Amino acid sequence: MSKVIVHADKATAAKAVAATIRDLIIAKAKAGQNAVLGLATGSTPLPLYAELVRLHREEALSFRNVVSFNLDEYEGLPGDHPQSYRYFMEQNLFRFIDIRRENTHVPAGISADASRTCADYEAAILAAGGIDLQVLGIGRTGHIGFNEPPSALDSRTRRVHLDEVTRRDNSIFFGELSLVPQGALTMGVGTIMDCRQVELLAFGTGKAEIIRQTLRTAPSADCPASWLKSHARCTFHLDPEANALL
Ligand code: GLP
Repeated sequence: MSKVIVHADKATAAKAVAATIRDLIIAKAKAGQNAVLGLATGSTPLPLYAELVRLHREEALSFRNVVSFNLDEYEGLPGDHPQSYRYFMEQNLFRFIDIRRENTHVPAGISADASRTCADYEAAILAAGGIDLQVLGIGRTGHIGFNEPPSALDSRTRRVHLDEVTRRDNSIFFGELSLVPQGALTMGVGTIMDCRQVELLAFGTGKAEIIRQTLRTAPSADCPASWLKSHARCTFHLDPEANALL
C-alpha cells in the first residue's frame, strides 16, 4: 500500500529520502550487490541530490555499487544540451559523486530508431535486475516521468507527446515555449510500477491540486500518478504546501 508523509519542509523531506537511499546503497554493498536507482529530474529532486552529494563528501557514502536509470529524456536533445536530462544529471549529481559513468542510464534523446531505443532501455533495466528504488516528482498534469494523461497502467518505455501544460511549465528552463521539444522518451507507468520501491516528492502550492486529485480520485489513466496508490511500496513525501488541499 502507498503511504503519505507530510514533512516540516522540503529540506526535511529530501533528507529523509536521501537517508533511505543511503541505507539501501550500504545494505546492497554489504551483500556485494549493486543498488539500482531510478532517478528523476525537475526542480523537486534538487534538494535530494544536494543531500546525496553531502553524504558522499561528508559521510563517505560511495556510489561505486550504484547503477542508475533516469525516467525520461526530451526527444531531439543531445546529452550535452543544457536542457537535456543527461546534462541535468551530470550538473546536479553525477559530477559530484563517484558513480561510474557506464553505470548511469538516461534514454537517448537522439537515435535512429526510437522504438528500438525504448525496447533496449527496458531490456537494460531487466538485465540490471530491475529497479530497487525509484525517485519521482509529479507534473501538474499528473504525469510521472513524462507519462501524460492518458497513460495506461501497463505502458512501457516509449515515445510520448508532451502536454501543452507541461511544455509551458518547462518553458521557463528553455527561455521560450517554441524551444521546448514536442516529444520525449519515458519509462512507462508499468515500468515504474515494477520498481520495488517508489519515493514520490511533491513540494509547494503549485502541486497541491494535483496531489489532491492523485490521492483522492480512483486510480485511472487520466491522472497517471494515481496508479501509484496500488503500488505495494510507494511513499508520497509532501511539504505542508503540497498537502494544503488534503
Ligand atoms: C518534468 C519531468 C518530471 C517531473 C516534472 C515536475 O516534466 N519529466 O519527471 O516530475 O517535470 O517538475 P518539477 O519538479 O520542476 O515541478
